[in-house]
Amino acid sequence: MSDQRRGSPRSARSPRPGSSRASALASGRPSIRPSASSTGRSTGPSPTEPDSTDRSRAATSFSALFRSRTPGTVGIRRPRCAAPCGQSGNVDNSDDHRNCAKERLVRPGIPAPAIAEAITRLRAAGCVFAEEEAAVLSEAAGDEATLAALVGRRALGEPLEQVVGYADFCGVRVRLRPGVFVPRVRSELLVRIATNTESERPVVVDLCCGSGALGLAVRHRLPQAEVHAADVDPVAVACARDNLGGNVYQGDLFEALPEGLRGRVTILLANVPYVATAHIPLLPAEARDHEPHTALDGGTDGLDVFRRVASGAPDWLAPGGILLSEITETQEDQAVQAVRLAGLDADVIYDDDLEARAILGRKNVGGMR
Ligand SMILES: C[S@@+](CC[C@H](N)C(=O)[O-])C[C@H]1O[C@@H](n2cnc3c(N)ncnc32)[C@H](O)[C@@H]1O
Repeated sequence: MSDQRRGSPRSARSPRPGSSRASALASGRPSIRPSASSTGRSTGPSPTEPDSTDRSRAATSFSALFRSRTPGTVGIRRPRCAAPCGQSGNVDNSDDHRNCAKERLVRPGIPAPAIAEAITRLRAAGCVFAEEEAAVLSEAAGDEATLAALVGRRALGEPLEQVVGYADFCGVRVRLRPGVFVPRVRSELLVRIATNTESERPVVVDLCCGSGALGLAVRHRLPQAEVHAADVDPVAVACARDNLGGNVYQGDLFEALPEGLRGRVTILLANVPYVATAHIPLLPAEARDHEPHTALDGGTDGLDVFRRVASGAPDWLAPGGILLSEITETQEDQAVQAVRLAGLDADVIYDDDLEARAILGRKNVGGMR
């Protein structure tokens, strides 16, 4: 797995010239291709076959944590090495870098031997980037005893973001709680599409909000937006309240929303659980063991929750309003079908650099079900 996919400066901010993402950014719009269904193009393996992300994640192990997290998770913005190498993020293991990493690791309140011990424990647990993780954990800990406790959790496989209590996503720092889904880099695609809007005061609902990362990122980019969020999981709801303040509701999909939103929603973000049940065992242990299955498991073909969202969306969308959800390549045809069945126009949007794919459903202006 390439380290560059992990929200690195290139993959997160500077697309390769000529890439689909570069052209999407140049035009100020995401690249929208006709859906596979409308072109009759084959979408490859059946939905029951693990997609490439599942496979690549399953192939990685705890011994390559930073790498294994590359395609999916948002991660922590790691400090730039002051001197002499000046590197940030994913670094090599040269002696030069180790020396300057050690300098950087000196923290007030944490003696050098405690940091050395943290590095040793992290390395023994299989962390390739033990120095980097030790730096992040030391910063979060502030004192020796807390550092030892955080390292212990990390060594047992808890995601780094849950251990330190935050993830950097799409230009915002998202607070996290243990047991709450860690926002993924690829979900930036949903935020980009959502914020490419001409609406003066968009009404945004972040359904299945988890930490509220999507709503928070959208509000950061569109401060005038009216943002609401909802989740079925009380821990996620509490976490989303940490991040968004008010307008966060608990309940099953649309049942959680206040009636006053019906027919008014201009952007419905729904990053639903969409892993096919049979693929759950193939996920990395970090996800399997530390993220709730309700956040991951989307049923036989991964689209159970999405189908419910699509069928309920028209009642809540304003004319011209859009529904946005992440899907996998193998889910494309079925997702398009579900959106059309609900009476919405469907498009599939890709971002090759983010390795992301979104289904967009649009309610026709003046259109009714
Ligand atoms: C894949 S996570 C996405 C979280 C967040 N939107 C993000 O992108 O980081 C899916 C979320 O959907 C929530 N969820 C699952 N089933 C739900 C339901 N029936 N109603 C509301 N939320 C649900 C889970 O609790 C979980 O927080």
